[in-house]
Amino acid sequence: MAYSTEDGFQITQEDYQQFQVFLQDACGIVLGDNKQYLVANRMRRILDELQINSLGLLVQRIGQSPRSGLKESVINAMTTNETFWFRDALPFDALRDVILPQLLADGVPEPLRLWSAACSSGQEPYSLSMIIEEFKRKYPATLRREPSIVATDISSAVLNAARQGCYDRLSLRRGLSDGRLAQFFDENADRRYSIKPAIAARVDFRFLNLLDSFAVLGTFDVVFCRNVLIYFSAARKQDILRRIRATLRPGGCLVLGASESLPIDLKSLYQIERADNGSTFYRAS
Ligand SMILES: C[S@@+](CC[C@H](N)C(=O)[O-])C[C@H]1O[C@@H](n2cnc3c(N)ncnc32)[C@H](O)[C@@H]1O
Repeated sequence: MAYSTEDGFQITQEDYQQFQVFLQDACGIVLGDNKQYLVANRMRRILDELQINSLGLLVQRIGQSPRSGLKESVINAMTTNETFWFRDALPFDALRDVILPQLLADGVPEPLRLWSAACSSGQEPYSLSMIIEEFKRKYPATLRREPSIVATDISSAVLNAARQGCYDRLSLRRGLSDGRLAQFFDENADRRYSIKPAIAARVDFRFLNLLDSFAVLGTFDVVFCRNVLIYFSAARKQDILRRIRATLRPGGCLVLGASESLPIDLKSLYQIERADNGSTFYRAS
């Protein structure tokens, strides 16, 4: 049976299935069988602009003109980019108070390299950069070289916003304390706030599909891969976590989202550690 919106837009079962396959192949996102309302909502603008009224035709068009930018627009529309500053707080505190001190005490080679895999509009990697700043203030002269952060995402739209590093009051209220706002942002004439250049300078934003090879990125001491694998199949999630393990330097740590955990099959690749504040992270073993 076809799904119809109130104004008569229809998605047939066949079109929906084609779109599910397209999306999973393109970016790993598994669309449940009852998400037609979401797809209708997010795809209507693109379909209207193309003056077509079928998802099946849309998938065909993407196949016929792979360089038209259409696939990119669909991925931008279909990814969920929900994020906020210092999301869940504890992993960021653990980074400053446990992970970084341990890595340095173990004498890992510097500069330290961090990766925010699926960085959305920048809140996660900029929060990591602020944590590095706080670490430097708390433990002066401990770091010999400036750490760097690679931040990747599949959505060109959020990457563009992230590179600007400029946010309105509403988005800053989501997780950022007044103290951090005052220390790490400059207020602009338009009442938006820009990340201070010293915090932004550590972060290098790059396009990366997590389904593709990570070889171009190099190796890392810390990887934050949070709130993205929840959209993928179990097999895809395992594959990505195996490949992330291969990017970790000896002693390197993986941090997952608050509701996420390591699949049982990967327990030999990572050692589970718990910081005093209760947050869990996974060390390459
Ligand atoms: C819900 S946000 C999470 C952002 C951040 N990590 C956090 O925890 O707040 C998920 C992000 O994953 C990105 N994403 C989805 N599929 C991806 C893929 N195949 N490769 C890279 N990024 C992807 C989306 O574009 C989105 O920005």
